[in-house]
Amino acid sequence: MRTATNRLRPGLVVLASLIVGAAFAKRALADAPSAPDPAAVERGREALLGRSFLKAEWADEAYKGVARFWDEPAPDPEKDPEGYARAFAKRYGFHPAPFPNDGLPMGLKRSVKADGKTRGMQVDCLACHGGSIGGTSYVGLPNTQIDYTGFFLDLFRADGRRTPLMPFVLNSARGTTNAGMMSVVLMSLRNTDLSSRTFPLAMGSNLPELDAPPWWVLKYKTKMYYDGRTPADSSRSIMQFLLAEKTAAEFEELEPTFADIHAYIQSIEAPKYPFPIEAESAARGRAVFEKSCAGCHGTYGETVDYPGEVVPLDVVKTDPARIEGLSDRFVEHYNATWFAAKHPVDVDSERGYQAPPLVGIWASAPYLHNGSVPTLRALLDSPRRPARYLRPPSTDFEHYDRRDVGWKAQVPAGAEVKEPRRLFDASRYGLGNGGHTFGDKLSDADRDDLIEYLKTL
Ligand code: HEC
Ligand code: HEC
Repeated sequence: MRTATNRLRPGLVVLASLIVGAAFAKRALADAPSAPDPAAVERGREALLGRSFLKAEWADEAYKGVARFWDEPAPDPEKDPEGYARAFAKRYGFHPAPFPNDGLPMGLKRSVKADGKTRGMQVDCLACHGGSIGGTSYVGLPNTQIDYTGFFLDLFRADGRRTPLMPFVLNSARGTTNAGMMSVVLMSLRNTDLSSRTFPLAMGSNLPELDAPPWWVLKYKTKMYYDGRTPADSSRSIMQFLLAEKTAAEFEELEPTFADIHAYIQSIEAPKYPFPIEAESAARGRAVFEKSCAGCHGTYGETVDYPGEVVPLDVVKTDPARIEGLSDRFVEHYNATWFAAKHPVDVDSERGYQAPPLVGIWASAPYLHNGSVPTLRALLDSPRRPARYLRPPSTDFEHYDRRDVGWKAQVPAGAEVKEPRRLFDASRYGLGNGGHTFGDKLSDADRDDLIEYLKTL
């Protein structure tokens, strides 16, 4: 068991993030969110974009040598380091860093291995929370391209090591990630005082792969994560990423830095829709929205009035695995640790998904917590949702559908065999595309107007 635990840990260090929800006090939310302190925002930006919080997992040689496992030629990493970085990024679904990053794409950081001398690299928050659209990278845009499974298998192999044992599906389709199970497994290797265990606690959780939420909506929320059970101002909960490596004392020491990172996340703004919008149609669409959607999603204008409703599963009827897969046993354990001391996960609230703020919604396709719906039109007309679709080959606008708003999503014959990692299959555990049928009864004209309006948010 010791061996299994030790093989488990390194892989998880790499990615683990958070999850877990919790709850609280309903704030009457008519006001614009209070702007975070600019000095904290700047410190948070520098820490998040400039620092590596974890030791390197893979040596530089693994990064440079991994192309030998590819089925396509790659530029020479010594003669053409930039060309190689681009090919590497495309292969595994990373995007160019819009900040200085030592020649690595966004989502990777240079660091030193546990031996204290071998130089190498590690993934960071932006592997999941840094994406691009139309060729421009944004911190906080969910990464629709990341191929965690392919990246992991290849990098451990190139590093001359066995791939760590993964007791859950890391991801089956590009763009999804199982951040929840990473967190559950890491927590199961700690006692409530955060001392390490050699034998994992049974947690009974079975969380599915998910799409990451965009960071620019956090500022509107009083509770975060898809289940809306964790107070949105918890900066300890976003530190779960560090669980495989840090001690209780190190967590304490890093808390102020993560409070700054939290402030930085709250300062991030959504990109604006870059194509023309038909003003009259959008104005009519606003009326449709206010009648059919605002009750759950809020209203948008000079100020955002966002209610933060958690909608019970039997009303929203989207895939239940994220809600049902989080065990009370896990929440109880988490709530007994330092992470929850200030902001515990709510154990009394009704279970369901929080209706998210829709600011910048044009940019964060595919939709729903599991990314099962490629366009807004399909979200608002459920019979159109494809049971299987291919994640876009890149985030260039040629793959973007301006009419339906989202990613062009046909499955050409034979494509799934050629590119299985791009195939999103809604029949898999947790990836169901049902529910949220609130747009089904709209007339086609109303739906067109509503989609036009959603582009303005
Ligand atoms: C492996 C992918 C992955 C990594 C790495 C990751 N996250 Fe996340 N993050 C997610 C997913 C998926 C969710 C949604 C979780 C849920 O609600 O179940 C999420 C949720 C969040 C949220 C809540 C957003 C909201 O509006 O509810 C914040 C804040 C956040 N992450 C910050 C971070 C920070 C900071 C880091 C790095 C320290 C990080 N994440 C690393 C995947 C990741
Ligand atoms: C009864 C409450 C409710 C109503 C009414 C409602 N929604 Fe939602 N909506 C939700 C919930 C809850 C989710 C999250 C579901 C999930 O991720 O599984 C959601 C998700 C969405 C998403 C996906 C967000 C994302 O980031 O992926 C969009 C877009 C959306 N709704 C638009 C609309 C529009 C437009 C209408 C009006 C036709 C509408 N909704 C009506 C509750 C509602």
